Amino acid sequence: MSVKAINRRTFLEFLGKGIAVSSIAPTLIPLATSYYKDLKGISPSKEDKLKLAKGLNFDVLIKWEDAINEQDTFGFNNDFTAFIPLDSANPDDGILWVNHEYVDPFFVSNHVGGEKSKEQVEKEMYNVGGSILRVQKNEKGKWKVVENDPLNKRVTGMTDIPFNWEHPIAGKTSAMGTLGNCSGGVTPWGTILTCEENYDMFYGERDYKSGERLDKKAFLAWHTQYDNPPEHYGWVVEVDPKTGKAQKHVALGRCAHECATVKELTDGRLVVYSGDDSVNKCLYKFISSEPRSLSKGTLYVANTTLGKWIPIVHEDNKILQKFFKDQTDTLIQLRSAAKYIGGTPLDRPEDIEIDPVNGNVLVSLTNNSTKKNYYGSILKIEETNGDHASLTFRPSIYLAGGEETGFACPDNMAFDKAGNLWITSDISGSLMNQEPYIPFKNNGLFVVPRSGSQAGQVIQMASAPGDAEFTGPFFAPDGKTLFLSVQHPGEYSTGPDDLSSHWPDGGDKIPRPAVVVITGKTLDALQGS
Ligand code: FEO
Ligand code: CA
Ligand code: CA
Ligand code: CA
Repeated sequence: MSVKAINRRTFLEFLGKGIAVSSIAPTLIPLATSYYKDLKGISPSKEDKLKLAKGLNFDVLIKWEDAINEQDTFGFNNDFTAFIPLDSANPDDGILWVNHEYVDPFFVSNHVGGEKSKEQVEKEMYNVGGSILRVQKNEKGKWKVVENDPLNKRVTGMTDIPFNWEHPIAGKTSAMGTLGNCSGGVTPWGTILTCEENYDMFYGERDYKSGERLDKKAFLAWHTQYDNPPEHYGWVVEVDPKTGKAQKHVALGRCAHECATVKELTDGRLVVYSGDDSVNKCLYKFISSEPRSLSKGTLYVANTTLGKWIPIVHEDNKILQKFFKDQTDTLIQLRSAAKYIGGTPLDRPEDIEIDPVNGNVLVSLTNNSTKKNYYGSILKIEETNGDHASLTFRPSIYLAGGEETGFACPDNMAFDKAGNLWITSDISGSLMNQEPYIPFKNNGLFVVPRSGSQAGQVIQMASAPGDAEFTGPFFAPDGKTLFLSVQHPGEYSTGPDDLSSHWPDGGDKIPRPAVVVITGKTLDALQGS
């Protein structure tokens, strides 16, 4: 179908029954008042550049292979970022956590075919996981990684990480490493939740009917050198950024977790929202039964047709008892369990943010080519009575991608201090600048102003370099800095003499994923300063 044939109306029909269309513009009072007038965005671009709207600037903070201390380097394909101030009175000094999702063997291990050596696999393992960086703003107002700071550390695909669960997983109480670290979240106590998304590309998956390993899915083929069970991956992993200690939270279930978005209830219990980013997979929330617990509680799956959260509890559910041995088995096979009990298949649920003004839960649904939904949408979940522990909700469409709105394939989101919504797009590199995505050109960063004459419009604020996507937008507490990842520039390069990007170093240099800091008067004005 050509891009012109997919107008917004037909697009909405792809989304199925039970989802009403809501007004795009929110109407509640913002947290801080914006002072911009006539915010001017940029047009989509095909250039191999990080382009920004007027009044915004960027600096590269760190890029792949930069040293972070005497033995460690910054990993590949940076995604989620989270800034944790060391002292709440000083917004200019803190720890930046950065996810490293996956590797491109062409750049990382120089693997171009044949069996991978152990050394090549280990190089790839080192380049996923996460980086912990001490960052500070210097006297010139520029953010810098503090060289050799004792806080600087790596968590990798080889770090030993225990399971926070009373039963072993595939016979073991800990896993070798974390991988597929896509998006994430921050707990109220300042630890990081990093989510293991497409874990099957590393060690494959298991066919749970036959018990056989599905190694064909493991296109990075780490299983050829390390015999780690697939069940050790696909979890939400908590990392203490001050120590680097990590644990895998089994109670949140196993799937291609995109993110884990935490809300603390007034009694200290937690609600954690997470999506399974794959076509026709589900949306989940965990409600803890004890304050600040990520192991005691109940996991639910969303039925968006009925507006219900369905509990995934083996001992209470005859259907689950028919298919799974116990709760551990149910959580390992979460995808199947969710479908058996009525979880609604969604269009790739990715990042989730809670609106700071009204508590609505926004879920990026990136796209679903099997339903000819190419442009995606943002789903709004209004929990009954605004209670995040409610077991019923009202679903609606907050924003639909398409030519009318000017963006396609929403992925990561962040709210700024004034309640403006920032969105990054994730048009696959294999389809970028091709039908049906030609009008959108490279991936971008967009803002949806909360107030003023442009409230509810989608305005492009940045365009990504060749083949790249922006990921991990995260605001420093004063709102004056936006940390942003530039992931997989040049991913579709066909050889060393045919690189599709040279960002950020330019010339004939190889592309490098990097974290940038965005600042400037437009960012300040949007947030009332
Ligand atoms: Fe790693 Fe769903 O993006
Ligand atoms: Ca993502
Ligand atoms: Ca986010
Ligand atoms: Ca994505």
